[in-house]
Amino acid sequence: MARLRTVHRCRSCGVVAARWQGRCPGCGEWDALVEQAEPAAPQPVAAVAGRAQRITEVDAAGAVPRPTGVAELDRVLGGGLVPGGVTLLGGEPGIGKSTLLLQVLAQRSRRETTLLVCAEESAPQVRCRAERLGALPPGLHLLAATTTDAVLAAVEEIEPSLLVLDSVQTISEPDTGQNPGSPGQVRAVATTMTELAKRRAVAVVLVGHVTKEGDLAGPRVLEHLVDTVLSFEGDRHHALRLLRAVKHRFGATGELGLFEMGERGLVGVDDPSGMLLGDRHPGIAGSVVVPVLEGSRILLVEVQALVTDSPLTNPRRSVQGLDTGRLAQMVAVLHRHCDTNVAPLDVHAAVAGGVRVTEPAVDLGLALALASSKAGQAVPPDVIAVGEVGLGGELRQVASTPRRLAEAARLGFRRAVVPCSAPPPPPGITALRAADLRTALDLVGL
Ligand code: TYD
Ligand code: MG
Repeated sequence: MARLRTVHRCRSCGVVAARWQGRCPGCGEWDALVEQAEPAAPQPVAAVAGRAQRITEVDAAGAVPRPTGVAELDRVLGGGLVPGGVTLLGGEPGIGKSTLLLQVLAQRSRRETTLLVCAEESAPQVRCRAERLGALPPGLHLLAATTTDAVLAAVEEIEPSLLVLDSVQTISEPDTGQNPGSPGQVRAVATTMTELAKRRAVAVVLVGHVTKEGDLAGPRVLEHLVDTVLSFEGDRHHALRLLRAVKHRFGATGELGLFEMGERGLVGVDDPSGMLLGDRHPGIAGSVVVPVLEGSRILLVEVQALVTDSPLTNPRRSVQGLDTGRLAQMVAVLHRHCDTNVAPLDVHAAVAGGVRVTEPAVDLGLALALASSKAGQAVPPDVIAVGEVGLGGELRQVASTPRRLAEAARLGFRRAVVPCSAPPPPPGITALRAADLRTALDLVGL
C-alpha cells in the first residue's frame, strides 16, 4: 500500500506547512498546526473524460440557462441558472442575499424540487420568513445542517434541481481539521459542491459573506472555483440594491440588476433614476445630476458636495459613493486651473441613494458640485453634467454620451454640460459644450 503523504495545516487560517512548527507561519497562532493526509490535487471540474472532440460535435445543451423567475436576476445571468453551474452570491451581511434566494426558491419550487441548506438560521426561522414573503411552495425543502456530508445525503435523497447553501462560511467539510469559515474550509466546501453540481447537473448557489473592507474570508478564495460570481451591493440604510456579475462563464458580465428592499422582500426597480432623484431638491447649491453607466443601464444620480470653513489643520474629507482619489483630483484641478480653492476647507462629497460611482464620467459633475457649494450658488435645475476631467483641466468625452443624455431628457432635464468632442445630443436636450472645466463653470454661471 502506498504510504500516505502528510502535511501540517493550520486550524485557524488554513496555511499548509511541510513540517510541524510550534507557531503557524501564516497567522502566528501557537500550537495550531495539525497533521493530516495531503489532499489530492483538485480536479478541473468541467473536465470530460475521453477523447478530443470537434467543437461542432460538442453538445451545448448542458450550458443552457433556465430562468429563476426573478427577472432582474435573470437579466444579470443572461437568462437564468445553468444546470450543473455553481454560482457564488457575495455581499455584506444584511444586504438581502438570503431574501433574494428565498424568492428564487419560491419561484422555482412551484413545479420542481429544490433544497435550501440553512446553516445560519433555523428551519422555523426560514419558514417564517418565507411566509412573510408570501411563499410556501410544495417543492421547497429545508435542511438545517452544517456539514457537507449532510448536504450530500439530502441531495441523494430528494434529488433537487436547485441547491442553495446559505452560507458557504458556516458549512464545513469534516476531517479538514479547520474552523468553518477559514479559507481552507471554504475552499473544501466549494470544491465538494462543485463536484456535486457537475455530477448531478444540479444548479448550485453558494452564499458568501463579504466584509465592508472587501476582505472576504471566503468568496475571494472561491472565485476561480465557481462558474459565476455575483455581487450584491447597496447601502443597508437605503432601499436600492444593485446586483452584478463579477465573473460569468455562461455569458456577459456587464448587466446590472436593480432591486428595492421593501416590506415583502426584494422588488425589481423599473425606473431607478426616478427613484434616485425622487427626494432631490432642485436649486440647492452643491448638487449636480450626473447620468452614470452601470452595466448597460443608465442611472441618473445626484452628486452632492458641501464645503465649509474648517477649524482643523488638516481639513476633513468625507466621501460616500465616490472615489477619494477622484475627489482629491477635482479639488486640485479646481485650485490650479479655475481659481477655486477648496483645499483649506472641509469637503464632504456624496452620491445620494447609496449608489457607488467609480467611473470618470462623474468628474465634471463632482467638480461643478464643489464649485457650486463654494460659491453658495446652485447649478440651474434643468442642467446635468457628464464628462471626464483631465489633470490639465481639459474635458474628455466618455462612452455612451447620447444614451446618457436621452435618459436625462426623459426625466425632464433640458441642458447638458459636455466636452466639446461629445457627439450630437438626442432630441429634447441641448448640449452646453466646454473645452475645459473653467468654461464649464462659466456656462452654468459659477
Ligand atoms: P437578508 O436577506 O437576511 O440579508 P443577508 O442574507 O444578505 O444577510 O436581509 C436582511 C435585511 O433585509 C434585514 O435587515 C431585513 C430586511 N428585510 C426587509 O426589509 N424586508 C423583507 O421582506 C425581508 C425578508 C428582509
Ligand atoms: Mg443571510
